[in-house]
Amino acid sequence: MTPGTKVGYAEQGVSPRTELDVQAIRAEFPILQRTVRGKPLVYLDNAATSQKPRFVLDAIARYYEDENANIHRGVHYLSERATADYENVRVRVQGFLGAAKPAEIIFVRGTTEAINLVAQTYGRTHVGPGDEVLITAMEHHSNIVPWQMLCAEKNARLRVAPINDRGELILDEFENLLGPRTRIAAFTHVSNALGSINPVKRMAEMAHRRKIPVLVDGAQAVPHMSVDVQAIDCDFYAFSGHKVYGPTGIGVLYGREALLDAMPPYQGGGDMISSVTFEKTTYNKLPYKFEAGTPDIAGVIGLGAAIDYVTDVGMDAIEAYEHDLLAYATETLSAIPGVRLIGTAHEKAGVLSFVLHDVHPHDIGTILDQEGIAIRTGHHCSQPVMDRFDIPATARASLAIYNTREDIDALAKGIERVREVLG
Ligand SMILES: Cc1ncc(COP(=O)(O)O)c(C=O)c1O
Repeated sequence: MTPGTKVGYAEQGVSPRTELDVQAIRAEFPILQRTVRGKPLVYLDNAATSQKPRFVLDAIARYYEDENANIHRGVHYLSERATADYENVRVRVQGFLGAAKPAEIIFVRGTTEAINLVAQTYGRTHVGPGDEVLITAMEHHSNIVPWQMLCAEKNARLRVAPINDRGELILDEFENLLGPRTRIAAFTHVSNALGSINPVKRMAEMAHRRKIPVLVDGAQAVPHMSVDVQAIDCDFYAFSGHKVYGPTGIGVLYGREALLDAMPPYQGGGDMISSVTFEKTTYNKLPYKFEAGTPDIAGVIGLGAAIDYVTDVGMDAIEAYEHDLLAYATETLSAIPGVRLIGTAHEKAGVLSFVLHDVHPHDIGTILDQEGIAIRTGHHCSQPVMDRFDIPATARASLAIYNTREDIDALAKGIERVREVLG
């Protein structure tokens, strides 16, 4: 795909069932052409990581083949070009997230690093003994553990807003837990274990009424819906490139300029300084203050290509297509005797977690693997969610733009096979 060409829209005469020409999209992902264990690959582990289109792979190869150089430091041609391309991606991410300024976009390794950055800088300067950090009961470990570490260090308290039996946040309880000692509220946009979509704008409003800043973990939202950080009115937003068709090792922290400006740096080293003597170091301006050392330049280039790719397909079209596919998958799996869906929120995206009688999810995953079907089994880095539902693990199928109803039918057939073998 070249930038600027649309991949399948209804007006181009593609399937009326969806607004995307999914077959054309599938053809752009080389890995989807392969077989696994002699069967066509059915890849349904997208919440863990998504596959990469040729457009992204080519952009990374082109960078290394054509302009590899370190950025920000060189006066030579290649360095200038690499720097321009790197900074250009920052502007594209700004547009993609609806941020006010490029300086509010910090490149990090992924969502995990983004949250740790905020906990270790904003958190360490604002959270003290007896203070509270509020999260929810549906968080990924990466939005629990950094806050737990901070609270342990500062003698502060981690508060957890509960979820109901459908896996939805109990909003009143969340609001009640926003107290005079709450220093930050950190919550996921979309749950990786349940698929529940949180009403993040309302949650931010509730927190801001009490002058509490909010961090939104967008790892499972950005691949599935358009996100506008100014419309949400969040203070921090984090996501990972590899879940949105980009490479591993690169992610983004969005932060409101005034907050980022006031925060101390996260790591020390090259590029994040303005001047260094043995007596004193002064720090660089935003966003460089938070980007110590040589960054993952190729990762940033790949992320830029991934953002161009999904923008080109259309985030609204992606959301509509996947919404339809999730409804189909929910209906199909619910009809299989013994299948119980875990996470039945009214607002859901991308994820279908389930258990089958008392069959261990690992056994489900292993039998499906024999059929070439890739799903995830386990606690999905959300052990407290498993505890909430009193189960050790789930099997999780998670969707992307290249998945089809045929993939869901293959999954259903695979589950029938599990029932035959173990049922
Ligand atoms: C909701 C959520 N938050 C955070 C993460 C961590 O992302 P990463 O491992 O890319 O840092 C994940 C990864 O699965 C996730 O699903």
